[in-house]
Amino acid sequence: MTQLDPVIRSFYRDRYVEDDRLVVRGHGRLEFLRTQELLRRWLPPASDVLDVGGATGVHARWLAADGHRVTLVDPVPEHVEQAATIGTFAAEEGDARALRQADASVDVTLLLGPLYHLVEAADRARALAEAVRVTRPGGLVVAAGINRYGGLLEAGSNGTLTEENLSLFLDAFASGSIDGTKGFTVAYFHHADELATELTTAGVTDVEVLGIEGPASNILENAAPEAIETLLPAAVLLARHVESDPNLQAASPHFLAHGRVVD
Ligand SMILES: C[S@@+](CC[C@H](N)C(=O)[O-])C[C@H]1O[C@@H](n2cnc3c(N)ncnc32)[C@H](O)[C@@H]1O
Repeated sequence: MTQLDPVIRSFYRDRYVEDDRLVVRGHGRLEFLRTQELLRRWLPPASDVLDVGGATGVHARWLAADGHRVTLVDPVPEHVEQAATIGTFAAEEGDARALRQADASVDVTLLLGPLYHLVEAADRARALAEAVRVTRPGGLVVAAGINRYGGLLEAGSNGTLTEENLSLFLDAFASGSIDGTKGFTVAYFHHADELATELTTAGVTDVEVLGIEGPASNILENAAPEAIETLLPAAVLLARHVESDPNLQAASPHFLAHGRVVD
């Protein structure tokens, strides 16, 4: 099996509670609601869905409840074990760069996370080529990317950006990646047009890239817990309204790209 970088595995096993990421804090809830809204807009009913990098099943759970037949794949064994306990979808270990699934075997392939951690362009190309391979002609590929500006916007909004650490953010911004020695783990950060080009190059057609959370995400991250219920609906409405405006796309911490595998 293609090996996951041990730094990424230990980050998810020892330093991070992935199961909480999209359900506890305001900006995570915004990411979840908007991802759910976009997937529900795009997925045909009762699809065979491959959720690659599906972690503990945060999306697989509701996709299965919506009537899709879901298989979750993740390289972190602890994620797969936890996902398997839900019981309404299949869960197995695997890597986006070398999927076990047969050619043209699913209607929809989701990559909601693997591209965050594939720093080398060749690895991202392999993951996208695999998504195209396993998806039926005419089927859907959906891939998320972290916005290149995301870390800088977050630090500039939550008070952690200083003259001393500014260069760290600028270096990550210039190179597009971080090595996992400070803060988050090994990660790659996209520009929206770069993500579109990567999908198109892999053979995905009619590609569109949308901002997921919109410009209010960092306000939600920093808001008092009692303010979240008021702020969240407005933030969702704002994100929906500006999702495809190229002038505001880079205000979202994440992008969601979708397109079809050529018939
Ligand atoms: C930030 S989490 C996102 C989880 C979930 N899909 C979501 O949208 O909230 C990133 C996930 O990608 C997985 N991942 C990292 N590298 C991967 C790879 N090479 N292939 C497949 N999944 C990978 C991680 O184990 C983790 O579960």
